[in-house]
Amino acid sequence: MGVLGDLASLRDRVLAELAATTTLEGVEALRVSALGKKGSLTAAFAALRDLPPDDKRAAGQALNTVKVALEEAMAARVQLLKDQALQTQIMAEALDMTLPVTGGGLGRRHPLSRTLDDIVALFARQGFVLHHGPDVEDDEHNFGALNFPPHHPARQMHDTFYVDQTDANGHPMLLRTHTSCVQIHALKEATLPARILAAGRTYRCDSDQTHTPMFHQVEGVVIEDGITMGHLRGCLETFLADFFERDRVDIRFRPSYFPFTEPSAEVDIRCRRNASSIVIGEGEDWLEVLGCGMIHPNVLTACGVDTKRHQGFAFGLGVERLAMLKYGISDLRMFFQNDGRWLRHFGFVG
Ligand code: PHE
Repeated sequence: MGVLGDLASLRDRVLAELAATTTLEGVEALRVSALGKKGSLTAAFAALRDLPPDDKRAAGQALNTVKVALEEAMAARVQLLKDQALQTQIMAEALDMTLPVTGGGLGRRHPLSRTLDDIVALFARQGFVLHHGPDVEDDEHNFGALNFPPHHPARQMHDTFYVDQTDANGHPMLLRTHTSCVQIHALKEATLPARILAAGRTYRCDSDQTHTPMFHQVEGVVIEDGITMGHLRGCLETFLADFFERDRVDIRFRPSYFPFTEPSAEVDIRCRRNASSIVIGEGEDWLEVLGCGMIHPNVLTACGVDTKRHQGFAFGLGVERLAMLKYGISDLRMFFQNDGRWLRHFGFVG
């Protein structure tokens, strides 16, 4: 009965050693020493051969019970050690939100947020006041009051997103296609003279290297007595020189068409285009940067402004476009992919 006599102490010894083992390697070594080919329990199984047939059965069963008990205990120990390791790893990776912020460790300002804030700050220096309007607009503010007649082809140019909701006149509501609608909200309530600025998200169903379905615009409106296109030009030249951090920039007005301005112009800025880069402010090339014009009398009338007394100008610019030019970004879609490496490269600390 030597085999069985040793069995209880063998089991207790292995279990005690197992309880003291703190590594997965340690458990594996113990498994090999007890249950492996040359293991102590395996040797006991081999010793069964020499027992008288009457004892074999009971001894075999006892050995099996111990074997199963040891296997289960080892599996449980392995699981426990793995759980503890995971817990330690999670604790090590956890971010302690109660720690004070140091340096620029908690991210960067998105290049678009920074550009938008910069643009607003530069116009604020010229006396503009920021106004806000909703992203979901009615037809009247986005088109009607801006002198887009019903069924006018200019409406199609905007690739509008409509939402599943109608306004008081039964027209579908839409995602604003430009910030010009904020002009209408602001002008209806303005005390004149006024310098109005609007900035924010706009939407058009368009997507390629230079268009994204959501983009940002900044809109400016000035209503003052005796205002002319000359003032408009001066305002834009000042802004563009400030924005591109140059003493002055050359711009040119190209005749254009917007229903809400008359005359209308697109503004180009002097630049030099190389194969891989654009230098703003010098060279022989021109690049379109924004749209503008004198506010159409129909728009002023729709907002209750007396056109005999007041006139004004308006302009609208694309924030992504200006950010791309200033920071040498070639694909607009990168702004919205949130690739950490790209954001670290183009993002701004603080
Ligand atoms: N709303 C025009 C656009 O989105 C830009 C613009 C604004 C043009 C104001 C003239 C005056 O294209």
